[in-house]
Amino acid sequence: MKYGRIAGWGKSVPKKVVTNFDLEKIVDTSNEWIVTRTGIRERRIASEGETTASLSVEAARQALERAGLRPADLDLILVATSSPDYLLPPVSSVIQDRLGAQCGAFIVTAGCTGFVYALVTAQQYIATGAYKTILVIGAEVISPAVDWTDRNTCVLFGDGAGAVVLRASDEPTGVLSFVLGSDGSGAEHLMMPAGGVACPPTRETIDARMHVIRMNGREVFKFATRVLSRAAMEVVEKAGLTMDDVDLFIPHQANERIIELAARQLGLSMDKVFVNIDRYGNTSAASIPIALVEAFEQGRIHANSTVVMVGFGAGLTWAAAVVKMGVMNQPRFAMWRTIPGRAKTRARVAIGALQMRAGALLLPLYTRVTRR
Ligand code: ACO
Repeated sequence: MKYGRIAGWGKSVPKKVVTNFDLEKIVDTSNEWIVTRTGIRERRIASEGETTASLSVEAARQALERAGLRPADLDLILVATSSPDYLLPPVSSVIQDRLGAQCGAFIVTAGCTGFVYALVTAQQYIATGAYKTILVIGAEVISPAVDWTDRNTCVLFGDGAGAVVLRASDEPTGVLSFVLGSDGSGAEHLMMPAGGVACPPTRETIDARMHVIRMNGREVFKFATRVLSRAAMEVVEKAGLTMDDVDLFIPHQANERIIELAARQLGLSMDKVFVNIDRYGNTSAASIPIALVEAFEQGRIHANSTVVMVGFGAGLTWAAAVVKMGVMNQPRFAMWRTIPGRAKTRARVAIGALQMRAGALLLPLYTRVTRR
């Protein structure tokens, strides 16, 4: 069996920062309320031209460069999102085309849980030997689906994208165990009622604000606190590990209080838990990959680190994975591998010529010194 090592990672967030103080000007809220109830201080919101595809492509390019790969090396692209640029075509094909990749591509939709679902799906293609190199993206531009007049929801969400490249490996790395869950009986607690086939868009549905996110915060909170620690414990046990073996816990960034509660239930100290909700809010399917990339950037993940990721969200859905990191790519060599073949050959010839020149210069010196 092959394993899917995380060989590259990248992220992209919109330039525009919207602080809690900015929101105080548009809805009846306060920085103090938002910080104490959620842990969020600011979020990134997409401007014109920044879309799920554009953020994904930027994150994907970084991940490919870090892995020392080119888009042509990809065998498959999976995009976890609930906010595609269009209903048709699938945003995964838009991303494939803009990257210049020649491979299959599809969307995985499982609300905020989508990235973990996509990562686990990618792992299956690698485990069976079907594919060697897979790009997995979690991306959302959820802000157009937010009701900016509703203080219950508009303070929570943000936009962004994160991506990883999985490479087939013989070493036991990547997803070691996983748990996937769904309970559609709780669907009504987090939904956009109109816009789909069940309730097509009409003037009435737009006037009734049925195309934006509606959430029963308390119910989602209760659900989240129930599944987060339970799924983490289950997945760690499935991997044959204990919580002491976990180096870093990366939960979906929906609410800092939910994360802290889960950490307490799991007996994990907060220095083993990654939190960046203060700067990005809830970026739905992008939250775990963005956090993962920042954990790499901050040196909180090393070769052989054991990371537990748990997502939860609309559906209601949840998913957890134990991910073992393998050898880290050195960006120096990664850059070398991105140079096109012909340029690489020319560089090799030039380096060879230099070595011969240096040898020719050094040989007489060496002979003179050793004769003494
Ligand atoms: N500013 C000020 N007051 C507010 C705000 C706000 N932004 N939002 C709500 N309030 C008020 C409410 O109106 C309510 O007032 P009332 O008592 O007069 O009716 C009061 O604050 C308390 O409301 P609660 O809903 O009880 O507040 P709570 O402490 O539960 O926090 C929150 C609300 C933050 C939404 C919380 O329930 C939560 O985080 N739920 C989970 C959300 C979540 O995880 N969603 C996404 C998961 S899936 C996905 O990512 C797509």
